[in-house]
This record gives sequence, C-alpha cells and structure tokens, in this order.
Amino acid sequence: MIGLPDFPWDRLTPYKELAQGHEDGIVDLSVGTPVDPVPDVVRRALADASDSPGYPLTYGTERLRAAAAGWLRRRHGVVLDQADVLPLIGSKEFVAWLPTLLGIGSGQRVIFPELAYPTYDVGARLAGAQPYATDGLLALGPERVPLVWVNSPSNPTGKVLPAEHLRKVVSWAREHGAIVASDECYIELGWEERPISVLHPDVCGGSHEGLLAVHSLSKRSNLAGYRAGFVAGDPALIRRLLEVRKHAGMIVPAPVQAAMTAALDDDAHAEEQRARYAARRAALRPALEAAGWRIEHSAAGLYLWASNGENCWDQVRTLAEKGVLVAPGDFYGAAGDRHVRIAVTAGDERVDAAVRRLQ
Ligand SMILES: Cc1ncc(COP(=O)(O)O)c(C=O)c1O
Repeated sequence: MIGLPDFPWDRLTPYKELAQGHEDGIVDLSVGTPVDPVPDVVRRALADASDSPGYPLTYGTERLRAAAAGWLRRRHGVVLDQADVLPLIGSKEFVAWLPTLLGIGSGQRVIFPELAYPTYDVGARLAGAQPYATDGLLALGPERVPLVWVNSPSNPTGKVLPAEHLRKVVSWAREHGAIVASDECYIELGWEERPISVLHPDVCGGSHEGLLAVHSLSKRSNLAGYRAGFVAGDPALIRRLLEVRKHAGMIVPAPVQAAMTAALDDDAHAEEQRARYAARRAALRPALEAAGWRIEHSAAGLYLWASNGENCWDQVRTLAEKGVLVAPGDFYGAAGDRHVRIAVTAGDERVDAAVRRLQ
C-alpha cells in the first residue's frame, strides 16, 4: 500500500460535535464547500444533455474547449487555442494524479508551497515521488526538478502571487527543466488584489512551453457537485496528458461537459456568486478582528487566514465553543500552526449567526 497521510478532516470531528451542540446550531466555516444554488443556465444545459447514451470524448467536445479558451481570453487575458484545453473530473483529481500521469517517480522531487492544499503532497506520494514543500526555489541549487506547483490565490492563505513573482518561478523552472503547474481555481475571486494566470503574457512572455494552468468550476459556478474543471497550456503536454487519460478512463460525463460549456460561456451568474461571497467576507472580517483575530493575506479566494496568536487547535476550540467550526492552519503545513482558515462559504443566515456570536 502507498503511504498516505491520515485524512486530516477526521481530526476535526470532536470540534464539529462541540459546535453542533450550540443552541442555535453549527456555523460550518471549515471545509469551504459551495452552498448556493447551481445556476439555472447550467442546470438547463445539464438536463438538455441528459440523453447521452454513448461514450463521451476524454478530450471533451470542441464546444467545451472553445468555451474554456474563450473564458480565459475574455476574463484573464490568456490567448490559447481550444486544442490546448483538456477537461478534468474536478481539479482535485488532476492535482492528485498529475505526477503519475507525467511519469514522475522515485528519487524525484515534486515541489509545492509550504502552506498548501494537501493534495499536492498526496499526488507526489501516489507517484512514488518525494513531496517537497518550499517557498524558496533558489535554495534547491542546480538540482533538476520535474514539477513545481504554484497556487495563486492560495488555499489556505488567500495570498496572490504578483506577475513578477510568477515570472521568476517560470524562468527558474525553464532553467531547471521543470514543468510549472499553476492551480488557479480561485482566480475569479480577487478582492484587494487581482490574480493573474501563469499563462498571461506578462508572466510567461507569450510562450506556454512547460506551463499548465489548472481551473475549476466548483467555486466560480457552484459546480463542486458536478466535478468540473479543466487544464490548459503547453500543447505538447496537453497532448501527452490526453493520451494517458484516454487509456486511464479519466472522462468527464457528457451532460457535465454540456453544463461546463454553459457555465464558461456565462459571466452573469459568476458575478452574482462573487457578490454573495464579497458580502459574507465583508461581514465576517471585521467581526473576527473585533473579537481579537488578526487577518493576514486573504486578498483573494474563499478564506480568511486568521490568528489570535494561540496554537491553531486552541483557536479551533474557542470558536467551536461559539458554535463556529473552522479549519486549523496545521492542516496545510507546520507553518500554519498559529492560524485558522475561515471559509466564507456558509449561507447568509449562518454568516449573520457567526457575526452575532463573535460579538
Ligand atoms: C487549491 C485547491 N485546488 C484544487 C481544489 C479542488 O477543487 P475541485 O476538485 O472541486 O475542482 C481545491 C478545493 O478546494 C483547492 O482548494
């Protein structure tokens, strides 16, 4: 059996039970799962495509790839051919399997940020490679590295990497023969700062060689339940990944492909959803600050990265006693042991309840 870390969320169960004991019920700000409705335009597209008896294409329909390329161009200033897009069964699947799909293995390092979504580490382990969390690529010296993950806006911190920083990562990777995989699943949720894609010409100089940008419809379009994402970038890498994924049966269901196409063609629903998150964030942030938490980074994305200076599990307990469940920072790396991650994904009524309890 492959050695994988314990599933961290199980450790939160006693605090969940504590929060559930609150007389007005739990406010769950831990996992960050969407709670608002799936947009009508997307549901209609899913229903209209429900008579899908045949096998769908692993590559996705041309309409879907064109919608993804159109969205990248329209919203993020990224110009690429629809041929350089590949649909994913949600982006988590891709994060977990990319090192394996690329043939990375024993003795090779997969690099990811010190504070990070745990699946980068898991993906390295599934491939038999060595997970390596660092924010200092320069300290690695001349070693050749096959894969570097970046994640801006970051889960858990909400930090946005500016174009200049990403440019340095890309040029380091090109010197060291590394592929840069950029997890951009929160790119539409910039608040104080505007996130930029690794595929933007200001970052990559107009060449997508060695670059992959990973996108998700889970947060933008409330499609976490549909499992819908895509990867775009280097044409040669996309072709290689397509070949392996065809053999492995990593196929997005046809009705979901239709739903994704409708979601990517429509910006109105995404603006509405953005406004909901903005309002919840605007309510929670000052309430936490008034209650003694300092908010760090958190310039984008779905989370407030907060600390009152105590150990993260003590903070989890303090908030759970108020019926508010949050995630301990050490789920995301040892450097997070004095922080908690607070998701802005509960409904308005629950967010109001949390604000009242923090007073
Ligand atoms: C940084 C990051 N990447 C990837 C994912 C996976 O998203 P999905 O599989 O829903 O596309 C998440 C989910 O929260 C995430 O936070």
